[in-house]
Amino acid sequence: MIVLQDITKTFNEGADNEYTAIHGVDLKIDADRVTVLRGPSGSGKTTLLTLIGGLARPSSGRIHVNGREVTSLPERFLTHMRREVFGFVFQSFNLIHGLSVLENVMIPAYPLGGPGRELNARAVELLETLRIAHKAGTEVQYLSGGEAQRVAIARALINDPPILVADEPTANLDTALSLEFLDIVRELRGRGKTVVMTSHDPMIWQADLVDAVVAMRDGRIVDSGVDPGGEGTA
Ligand SMILES: Nc1ncnc2c1ncn2[C@@H]1O[C@H](COP(=O)(O)OP(=O)(O)O)[C@@H](O)[C@H]1O
Ligand SMILES: [Mg+2]
Repeated sequence: MIVLQDITKTFNEGADNEYTAIHGVDLKIDADRVTVLRGPSGSGKTTLLTLIGGLARPSSGRIHVNGREVTSLPERFLTHMRREVFGFVFQSFNLIHGLSVLENVMIPAYPLGGPGRELNARAVELLETLRIAHKAGTEVQYLSGGEAQRVAIARALINDPPILVADEPTANLDTALSLEFLDIVRELRGRGKTVVMTSHDPMIWQADLVDAVVAMRDGRIVDSGVDPGGEGTA
């Protein structure tokens, strides 16, 4: 379970361009479930997701991940947590140019020092699931947006993390690939993983496998309901 208590995030604190993107958010995200954050552009979805994943620290408030208070952890513990507990699919986490698809997928596994051959096999398997294995040897700068997105998803899953956080994971995918992504999420859910993603794609937040849809607006949660598909306003 991930618990957010009175979370605020202010950018450029004290400067002329100070901006508070998250205003006192309280939220409980169930483990072993799929949660979608939705809301208009600029409502704070990505910011909240980076705080949940420990990629940035809140300006105030507390976050507990599986019973552990993480907001006050020293940087090295946060690094450890990012590596072991979370898999990330973020647009801003660019793939590394000059390296192949396969190499990019394996990068998060290197610090954990697993055996090379098994790691290689796991990476290929993930690429097969995502139907991108035929590009394993291609340098990532030559991929289309949708292909790069699938590589990013494979990379996020390489360490088999208990929690997957994904920011607009289907933004570059067509309908068929979006459905395949949802199949992967369904499979992860079936294996007891926690998935938290942002999306303004109704196909995502209306999907039957989604357990909770949290609606945001202007840095606040306006609906933390658990019954998606109901009202259906974007
Ligand atoms: N690093 C930053 N510095 C200043 N403002 C930011 C930064 N990141 C996001 N913001 C602002 O915070 C608000 C929420 O952004 P974001 O979380 O990206 O929204 P969403 O993902 O819902 O579109 C926006 O107004 C955005 O401009
Ligand atoms: Mg965003």
